[in-house]
Amino acid sequence: MNTSHAPLAEKTLPGGSWSLGDLTVSRFGYGAMQLAGPWVMGPPADHAGALAVLRDAVELGITHIDTSEAYGPHVTNRLIREALHPYPESLHLVTKVGATRDAQGGWPTAREPEDLRRAVHENLDTLGIEVLDVVNLRLGDAEGPRPGSLAAAFEALAVLQQEGLVRHLGVSNATDEQVAEAQSIAPIVCVQNMYNLAHRHDDALVDRLAEQGVAYVPFFPLGGFSPLQSAALSTVAARLDATPMSVALAWLLQRSHNILLIPGTSSTAHLRENVVGAGLSLSPDDLRELDTIGRHA
Ligand SMILES: NC(=O)c1ccc[n+]([C@@H]2O[C@H](COP(=O)([O-])OP(=O)(O)OC[C@H]3O[C@@H](n4cnc5c(N)ncnc54)[C@H](OP(=O)(O)O)[C@@H]3O)[C@@H](O)[C@H]2O)c1
Repeated sequence: MNTSHAPLAEKTLPGGSWSLGDLTVSRFGYGAMQLAGPWVMGPPADHAGALAVLRDAVELGITHIDTSEAYGPHVTNRLIREALHPYPESLHLVTKVGATRDAQGGWPTAREPEDLRRAVHENLDTLGIEVLDVVNLRLGDAEGPRPGSLAAAFEALAVLQQEGLVRHLGVSNATDEQVAEAQSIAPIVCVQNMYNLAHRHDDALVDRLAEQGVAYVPFFPLGGFSPLQSAALSTVAARLDATPMSVALAWLLQRSHNILLIPGTSSTAHLRENVVGAGLSLSPDDLRELDTIGRHA
């Protein structure tokens, strides 16, 4: 344990903790994707700033960081290693495989068994670890989930898990049917799909996974590349003397106990604002007003 990175008690973070299989993580995590350059390509403009955000996240008690070898590519994993290696025992890194990057910044699919094996080894190498805590199989494409069997790819990941290279499995950008198909092959500890105040297509899936004790990890919790904007959100935020981002995160934590947060930021000020803001308590009236966003988006 590197004491300079010793986390604060988890209870200081809003939402408390959650068990991803045998791993305990803070429900308030950190999404590292946007630490890479513009459109998740190349190095960040502020290298030292990126390292500072990662170190601050751990200082604040965050024990769950979401990443991928495809971010940069390689850039985000290397930043995590530079900032935090040797990692505190309590810190758990969640990565994803199933897509690479092309020179235009596209995200070509790479889900053949040999692609997945290569990606697992690349993540192990760049992160500087011997076992990946959680690996999500990324499905669909940049437009969202696409139907179709994941069996061949997920079975290949299950083999890598049996070989001891991966501790737990998950799926990302997946349809309900693909989640169920994955669960018929091997246990999953999380589903990482797009979900936020304005995009609630996965409502039923969130509830089903909650009953099963499986985490639902929304990506783009703040709207991603298009920050959430709505009159109702602004009204509720103003009433609570909070920022819209704080309300959006607090809503997710209150939405269901199995939701884990991985908001991204390249700013320590935003990181701290988000940690505090996610602890807002939303009243039934606030929730009713916020419900109008999801219904009419
Ligand atoms: N599985 C997948 O296919 C997939 C896809 C996309 C993302 N992800 C994961 O999900 C994570 C979260 O997604 P994301 O980072 O793209 O989107 P996000 O968390 O919805 O939003 C991040 C954006 O919000 C801004 N922001 C954060 N806090 C703010 C604040 N307090 N005030 C104003 N602006 C604020 C950030 O800008 P600043 O840097 O200026 O703060 C950044 O531009 C990613 O890091 C990644 O790990 C997964």
